[in-house]
Amino acid sequence: MRAAFAILLIALVLIPVRAPAADATQGHAVYDKWCAGCHAPAIKYAPGTTLVGRVLAGTYALEQLYKGSLPAALEQRTDLAPDYVRVIVRSGRNLMPATRKTEISDAELDALVVYLTSKGR
Ligand code: HEC
Repeated sequence: MRAAFAILLIALVLIPVRAPAADATQGHAVYDKWCAGCHAPAIKYAPGTTLVGRVLAGTYALEQLYKGSLPAALEQRTDLAPDYVRVIVRSGRNLMPATRKTEISDAELDALVVYLTSKGR
C-alpha cells in the first residue's frame, strides 16, 4: 500500500506541467507586432479639420464597411468571434494579407484570439 502511494506520488511529480493557457498579455504583444500597423485607431483630424495623423488600411476599410455601426479599430470591437479571427488571420481578406504559422504560431494565434475576444468583455 505504502509502495503504491509512493509510486503515485512519484508519478504525480513526473507528470509534466501543462503549458500555460494562452493569455491576453502575450496576445497583446502579438497584436502590436502583427496587427496594429493596420488596425490601430486612426487619428485623422485636429480642430480645424487639418489632417494631422495616420490613416491605416484595416481601420479605414472597416470604417468604410461599417460606417459607424461598429468601431473601426479592431481592439475596440466586442463582437469578434474566436473562429472568425482565426480564419481571417490565416486566410487574409482583400487587402489584408494571410499570416503563416512560421510568422504567427498556433500558440501565438490562440493568445491573440484571447486578447481580441475576451479582454474586459
Ligand atoms: C496590411 C494591413 C493589415 C494587417 C497587417 C492586418 N490586417 Fe486585418 N484587415 C485589413 C483590412 C484592409 C481589412 C478589411 C478587409 C475587407 O476589405 O474586408 C481587415 C480585416 C480584418 C478583420 C475582419 C473584421 C470584420 O469586421 O470583418 C479581422 C478580424 C482582422 N482584419 C484581424 C486582423 C488581425 C488579428 C491582424 C494581425 C494578425 C490583422 N488583421 C492584420 C488589413 C490588415
